[in-house]
Amino acid sequence: MPVDNVSDRMIEQIKRLAEKIDESTRLVVLTGAGVSTDSGIPDFRSQSGTYSRWDSSRVFDIDYFHRDPEYFFNYAREELYNFDAIEPNPVHYFLAELEKSGKLKAVITQNIDMLHQRAGSRTVYELHGSIQDAHCLKCGKYYEYNTMHELVFREAVPVCACGGIIKPDIVFFGESLPEMAINAAYNISSQTDLFITMGTSLVVYPAASLPVIAKENGAQLIIINREATPMDRAADFIVQAELRDIVHQISQF
Ligand code: OAD
Repeated sequence: MPVDNVSDRMIEQIKRLAEKIDESTRLVVLTGAGVSTDSGIPDFRSQSGTYSRWDSSRVFDIDYFHRDPEYFFNYAREELYNFDAIEPNPVHYFLAELEKSGKLKAVITQNIDMLHQRAGSRTVYELHGSIQDAHCLKCGKYYEYNTMHELVFREAVPVCACGGIIKPDIVFFGESLPEMAINAAYNISSQTDLFITMGTSLVVYPAASLPVIAKENGAQLIIINREATPMDRAADFIVQAELRDIVHQISQF
């Protein structure tokens, strides 16, 4: 049964999307913060996104972090270290099911929230790292999420026994992406027959170059997002809607 806020035109688009997924044998999906908003995690660039509260030029900037790590940890305390209260949503489960069925070969994500894995996805390339792990910037000592959670709420800036600052393994602007993840992402993007982006503004590189690589290697490109992206013109078609409505509706086809 159609959901209330899905128009007939949208239903046609979702039907077309379902057909494309059905025809694909090597599907790859690139996700962004928009897949986790229904879990209660804000995205970055929407009106009520993280960057409406925190300065985008400071919060994830590695040079700024070295000068004033407290700014990042104030943000982290308020918005990041509460993931134990957050659950995967139907979009994460939908992708995990597609992988189980053998159709989806990988999720490439810019998200650091581990929700794809918690929903059951197994092949997940985390381009921007993960909140799961943290390391001391001086001695390299490893800290896992729970310890880090405790430290973040106890200290203004978590500090290792050696005196070094402990930083979660999130990729900040100015840092390199995890080599294994980005290489695997490039590789699989060049081999897919259908590349779908979901809930990303496609403005951050190199993640935003992956749809282009997929297209150049013969894949079809579908962009699913609540609003327009700079890459819409390169897409074979776009679906502009709420992800939860799409996932709900697609199960009807
Ligand atoms: P953005 O906030 O830039 O984009 C998220 C997109 O998802 C927006 O265009 C929203 O309109 C859309 N969106 C949000 N909720 C949605 C929903 N329920 N259904 C459909 N669309 C929805 O987030 P990303 O593209 O992920 O980097 O941002 C990329 C990177 O920029 C992030 O990984 C982060 C940030 O700086 C780092 O932290 C290094």
